[in-house]
Amino acid sequence: MTPPSPGHQDKLSPRPGRGPDWWLMLRKFVSHGTSIASFSPSSRFLARSMIRGIDWVRARCVVELGAGTGPITRELVKAARPDTRLVIGERDPDFCRLLRDKFPGQDIVEGDACRLDEILAARGIARADHVISGLPLPSFPAALRDSIIRMSAKVLGPDGEFRQITNMPWVYLKLYRNYFRDVSFQLVPLNLPPGGVYFCKGYEPTAA
Ligand SMILES: C[S@@+](CC[C@H](N)C(=O)[O-])C[C@H]1O[C@@H](n2cnc3c(N)ncnc32)[C@H](O)[C@@H]1O
Repeated sequence: MTPPSPGHQDKLSPRPGRGPDWWLMLRKFVSHGTSIASFSPSSRFLARSMIRGIDWVRARCVVELGAGTGPITRELVKAARPDTRLVIGERDPDFCRLLRDKFPGQDIVEGDACRLDEILAARGIARADHVISGLPLPSFPAALRDSIIRMSAKVLGPDGEFRQITNMPWVYLKLYRNYFRDVSFQLVPLNLPPGGVYFCKGYEPTAA
């Protein structure tokens, strides 16, 4: 939500467009660690699994959180119908610049996932059908993770679906079951490292 301040660029921030995506991601991983939590962008196989099965006829609004260099965004943009609202959230200004270069005309929001309700309210959107999270939620402090999942559930309503990427297959099933009644996992071996997707419905947090 906050526009980048003029001239803001940290030491490890090359101008987007210079060098391949994996290089920018690796540099961000080295400089920011747990808020990136992945040393390379998701493969197209993992990105496609993240959006597989979305009913594009019914989906009015799909939100992506933590878009990074945009592998999932690319699949969303290809699949969405012209009347589907895509809201692409990313906190890092360099990734946002890269995303805007790659996906001109898309709604790329530089902002924190914790403020998803405000981001959608500013656009006059009351509900999302899917929240597609590329955020490294397990490496966040518990209070931050709770707040992002609570916020996502709030905008999804009872019928919406939260999808979460992972590079640690099955490991966090229990974690997401602390938040959602219905959680399933799909393995995607063709990713570096092998990853997968948690599909979560029915927000029902247990007191952990
Ligand atoms: C593991 S990377 C995933 C990138 C991409 N979705 C992919 O699959 O390759 C996590 C991304 O989440 C972003 N991020 C971390 N914390 C965030 C937050 N609180 N709000 C929005 N984005 C955040 C990071 O800047 C990073 O781009």
